[in-house]
Amino acid sequence: MTVMPADLSGLDIRAEIERLRKERNAVILAHYYQKPELQDLADFVGDSLELSRKAAETDADVIAFCGVKFMADTAKILSPEKIVVLPDLDAGCSLEDSCPPEQFKAFREAHPDHIALTYINCSTEVKALSDVIVTSSSAETILQKIPADQKIIFGPDRHLGGYLSRKFNREMLLWPGVCIVHEAFSETELLKLKAQNPGAPIAAHPECPPTIVDHADYVGSTSGILNYAKDMPGDTLIVATEPHIIHQMELALPGKTFIGAPGADGNCNCNICPYMALNTLEKLYLALRDLEPRVEIEEDLRLAAKKSLDKMLEMASSTVGKGDLGAR
Ligand code: 13P
Ligand code: SF4
Repeated sequence: MTVMPADLSGLDIRAEIERLRKERNAVILAHYYQKPELQDLADFVGDSLELSRKAAETDADVIAFCGVKFMADTAKILSPEKIVVLPDLDAGCSLEDSCPPEQFKAFREAHPDHIALTYINCSTEVKALSDVIVTSSSAETILQKIPADQKIIFGPDRHLGGYLSRKFNREMLLWPGVCIVHEAFSETELLKLKAQNPGAPIAAHPECPPTIVDHADYVGSTSGILNYAKDMPGDTLIVATEPHIIHQMELALPGKTFIGAPGADGNCNCNICPYMALNTLEKLYLALRDLEPRVEIEEDLRLAAKKSLDKMLEMASSTVGKGDLGAR
């Protein structure tokens, strides 16, 4: 259900959001892929793991989640007593869509000796069918804590799973899902861009296919890429992830240059996440005003999904401020 903003002309939306944030005792959480104007007024901007931790810890009454549905669901699973609003409930994720719970259940049942290590980009139902959830910043730490002889199903992102499998020489059964945004980067165009910017390192999100990741100097989560930008040699970085993260890089490192990696025609908008883009300032205002659209999860399902999320938070506890899968 997409909320169609009413006529809000004449309203100082930012001032109204400020007023409502106080009145509602609300915290605004935003992912790095949100529009800059949403990042700028958030109380906290972070990657999926950091946002989950914030949602679990907050003492606010309302969580306004500027991100996608699986992220807001995670906030509700971890903080059921809070009101969780998502500015646009249609803000989904292609990875979540690629993994229908009934099919995932059948896959699990066909491999009873495997545990399910599952990327957080999935539905609450799939979380409930999983043993441990991972994010891109916690996957490495968690995988290394699982005994070497334990068989693993990894879903729904086959590129993240494949990357981990290659890096740790660990066989895993991979669910065939992909992120449509990271899948859209072009190797040919990336190599042209690299040739035009000699010496500039490439940082890539592990949701990218091997054709991109294999050229990267650094592979990691959104926070990991941001940290790499702070520490990298030189002053130009090619960024192979959703380009809205560049906003945080430019704020933190005004003297450096960040270039978004190109898609197939070298100049498309195909690397903007269409789901994240559904959230707007106006919809955030309406969500805080009306406390709708709300995320609601049936209690038995929530408790089942919470087990695998709690396992992640427990096993990822050593991933403090590191936020990355590490240099290749
Ligand atoms: P991060 O956990 O790295 O922020 O990734 C979330 C995501 O959806 C990437 O597409
Ligand atoms: Fe999902 Fe990809 Fe958008 Fe991340 S960037 S929310 S994985 S569609």
